[in-house]
Amino acid sequence: MRQSSPDHGLPPLPDPATPTPRRLHMITWGCQMNVYDSARMADVLAPLGYAPTPSPDEADMVILNTCHIRDRAAEKVFSELGRLRGLKAGRAAAGQRMILAVAGCVAQAEGAEILARAPFVDIVLGPQTYHRLPEMVARVARAGGAVIDTSFPAEQKFDFLPEAAAPQTAGGLTAFLTVQEGCDKFCSFCVVPYTRGAEASRPAASVLAEARRLVGSGAREITLLGQNVNAYHGDAPDGGTWGLGRLIRELAEIGGLARIRYTTSHPRDMDAELIEAHAKVPALMPFLHLPVQSGSDRILSAMNRRHTVADYLALIDQLRAARPDLALSSDFIVGHPGETAADFEATLDLVRRVGFAQAFSFKYSPRPGTPAAGAGGQVAEAEKDARLQALQALLRAQQAAFNESCTGRDLPVLFTGPGRHPGQIAGRSPYLQPVHLAGPATLIGRIAPVHITAAHTNSLTGTMHTAPMPEERACA
Ligand code: 5AD
Ligand code: SF4
Repeated sequence: MRQSSPDHGLPPLPDPATPTPRRLHMITWGCQMNVYDSARMADVLAPLGYAPTPSPDEADMVILNTCHIRDRAAEKVFSELGRLRGLKAGRAAAGQRMILAVAGCVAQAEGAEILARAPFVDIVLGPQTYHRLPEMVARVARAGGAVIDTSFPAEQKFDFLPEAAAPQTAGGLTAFLTVQEGCDKFCSFCVVPYTRGAEASRPAASVLAEARRLVGSGAREITLLGQNVNAYHGDAPDGGTWGLGRLIRELAEIGGLARIRYTTSHPRDMDAELIEAHAKVPALMPFLHLPVQSGSDRILSAMNRRHTVADYLALIDQLRAARPDLALSSDFIVGHPGETAADFEATLDLVRRVGFAQAFSFKYSPRPGTPAAGAGGQVAEAEKDARLQALQALLRAQQAAFNESCTGRDLPVLFTGPGRHPGQIAGRSPYLQPVHLAGPATLIGRIAPVHITAAHTNSLTGTMHTAPMPEERACA
């Protein structure tokens, strides 16, 4: 940790034993892991008296939790900081303090550059040091300087973060749980190995304990998170190491936990035990996000993906053999350096062969410091645009067809809250589709069969099914 010296003239922090109530505003960009990390940062700051506030206007501390994976992430952060600067100055003029922190992957990647361009920022912290946040806040308060901590500390943040205070989403019924962080794959285009560091797994006992607590406070669905979640290899209570398949089997034993999901996976780490879990664990939902990125072996090799198209297709066959109703999602990049029209056609071909229930697709955008950024054969922007449009049209049609295929079926729905209109409730199908229907609020928190009557672009509508249906097992 290193400090610079500008005097921010801050009054001292309260004694943590008797914390003064303080307001914490967080702005979170990016993936579910960032959402989870923001919740953990709120947890570590709670003992200092910080409670969440929806607006930055009255906040005593604002944290920008940033994402660097695509697009002009740094510019978005600096423009938000520009807005907050005025707010902070206004507070200072009124004799009040506002601590401004930049966290996440942009903080990791830009480090001191953030303080150089925005000297009014108090704290810059990378994703591996959230457990040290209270100490950083104390240092800022004591010394009045700025703190940068973008190290990859030897100690695991998992061992130091407090347990999740409460399930994070949908009224606490669905929760995220980080089990793994970082990545050792070094795909040519990706910043994650640089910003999140080496692959590390959380001990299984700690995952199970957090899962039990989440279920105890009402969660019915848990999504296991990790940048490369199926590379999970956590220390096990029996002294060995568990992979994700084994971890999922153990989690499925927790009474009251009805649904388990995991994201994001790499095809190379899909081992036999995990595939078997899809066959044997009914609580493991039949929906898998398995990024492939490209359908051309030449580009997959240039991307350093370490799998071929044939590997991916064989894996899909194995997964579908294990769980015939498995629906698939994926990530695609168009216009990676060296991608020709024929390579792109091969991607369309792969999409046609697999058939995706939904997918994310992006134009390649160079990330400084990654191998692809400096590679020859960069694809013209107009060409990337055209390819993205063609790919998205195909993926949209597949998503519409998948949603349409759900009509007339009875799907178990986890009801998570009220619907848009009075008398309506909303929930999620096993395939993560939002489902809306007329029904009593008393069903919220329960899983019940819904007869699907109509499909829309991103959601389904249905009617309450009256016949009894065994929980989760009747999904066609
Ligand atoms: N350009 C475009 N898309 C990217 N992704 C990651 N890095 C880049 C990049 N430089 C996409 C990948 C990944 C998803 C999370 O973001 O498809 O799977
Ligand atoms: Fe990035 Fe995923 Fe590749 Fe890891 S496996 S480098 S997180 S795209």
